[in-house]
Amino acid sequence: MKIPGGMLLSGIALDRSSAIPLYRQLYLQVRKQILEGRLPGGTRLPSTRTLCKELALSRITLLNAFDQLTAEGFLAPRTGAGTYVSDEWEGRDAAADAPRKPPRLSSLSQAVHSLRSEHFGGVSYDAWAADCPTSFLPSHPAYDAFPMPVWKRLVDRHLRKPNKAQLGYGELKGLQRLRESIVEYVFDARGIDCSPDQVVITSGAQQAFNLLGMLLLNPGDSVWMEDPGHIAARIAFQALGCQLVPLRIDDQGLDVQQGLRECPEARLAFTTPSRQHPLGTTMSYARRQELIDWAGRGQGWIVEDDCDSEFRYVGRPLPALHAMDPWQKVIYVGTFSKVLYPSLRLGYVILPEALVEPFCAIRAVMDRSPSTLHQATTADFMQDGHFLGHIRRMRTLYQARQASLVESLQRHLGGFLRVAPVEAGLHLMGWLDQAVDDDALARGLAEHQVYTYALRDYCIRRYLPPGLLLGFAATPEEQAEQRVQEFASALRSLGYLR
Ligand SMILES: Cc1ncc(COP(=O)(O)O)c(C=O)c1O
Repeated sequence: MKIPGGMLLSGIALDRSSAIPLYRQLYLQVRKQILEGRLPGGTRLPSTRTLCKELALSRITLLNAFDQLTAEGFLAPRTGAGTYVSDEWEGRDAAADAPRKPPRLSSLSQAVHSLRSEHFGGVSYDAWAADCPTSFLPSHPAYDAFPMPVWKRLVDRHLRKPNKAQLGYGELKGLQRLRESIVEYVFDARGIDCSPDQVVITSGAQQAFNLLGMLLLNPGDSVWMEDPGHIAARIAFQALGCQLVPLRIDDQGLDVQQGLRECPEARLAFTTPSRQHPLGTTMSYARRQELIDWAGRGQGWIVEDDCDSEFRYVGRPLPALHAMDPWQKVIYVGTFSKVLYPSLRLGYVILPEALVEPFCAIRAVMDRSPSTLHQATTADFMQDGHFLGHIRRMRTLYQARQASLVESLQRHLGGFLRVAPVEAGLHLMGWLDQAVDDDALARGLAEHQVYTYALRDYCIRRYLPPGLLLGFAATPEEQAEQRVQEFASALRSLGYLR
């Protein structure tokens, strides 16, 4: 097949100001045309003379590109007959034109995809203006207040002496020094008495939830979930084929009696006792006892998600559920995402001894262990005394940020949203009138760069009024007024306020 020179030439655009040499640009573009089927196998290319003339290239540049394409099997020169696209690329044109079928996915992948794929689309901050704040985004700590100079010094300390401990595969359970620091911290702060051998470092709490699901649950098993509750954990269990048993939250936390009535044989209960996510309730002592009794009597495990217990502004924190459990049925999951920063991807799980080895086996298959450099830096940060100081400073900062945001919200938006200070955590609940669709509202606000989460997303069944989760940690006090005014003006543009 001979093609007119124009067909190849029209697809070639060389950039003479680029740092990429011309022969390489030509090579890449011809290769792309062949791979995409636009130059099918058997196509005869225009003569080198025509190509040199039309593309204003020297012969040596052209031959350099063609030699490489020939060596890689894309082109086949035929003596005395010109240069052809190799026959093996025949039929590519048909493939390229055929409608692309969606790939065949596993049931697990389909489940995750259909459940809430948009929730996990990830956030691209590229589209945000440089000063666009994470203002109302729940779950984000104050990046502006992170002690980067100290962190950098600690990272540098390790980078200066690269060795196998830093750059090789890390210990399967995670760095021993970090596990020791965690043991000391959870003993002092959460009343948990455990050994470093029971601690396994994970890639954030989310990996711990997935691994625990794989470790303990079979398809069809029932799982008590807080309703409303942590979306990502819920999806992890659902994707494994588990049946969710949504349990209401009242002023004492998870309704254990409802669980006992509806599904006493559940295999696992997922709970956030220190600060119910997202409502903010602290689970009462009596409820904790009921929950632990349920697990102790039967086959059930409790997964305690303690993601931000550090940030409590009122009263003393109750000890972790784990600290009250005489049966070794509570599995504690902690994370550095809130107390340090989420992209660190460091979490940890404190396991009953009998689960440590099976958990590590699954962990090894998934991805070995998180970056040793970050584990070592975090261990230094804890051991050198920065960690507790950072928590204290952030607690004070968040308390002040919460107060100024609540004040501005009540003053400007009191007629639209009901907000009250929270005892713990990084976000407020903004309660709305029954008629408002919180999901549509959150989507509308996001179009105006006001980022909130709708309560509806967190709910399995609807029994609560609509609401928005409003993060306060990332809004400096002096910006609260302006951010709330932007919020109000977005509401006006969307027709919610006059
Ligand atoms: C309730 C809850 N648990 C745990 C996490 C932490 O997840 P990770 O450690 O994977 O960042 C989050 C994150 O937002 C959360 O909201």
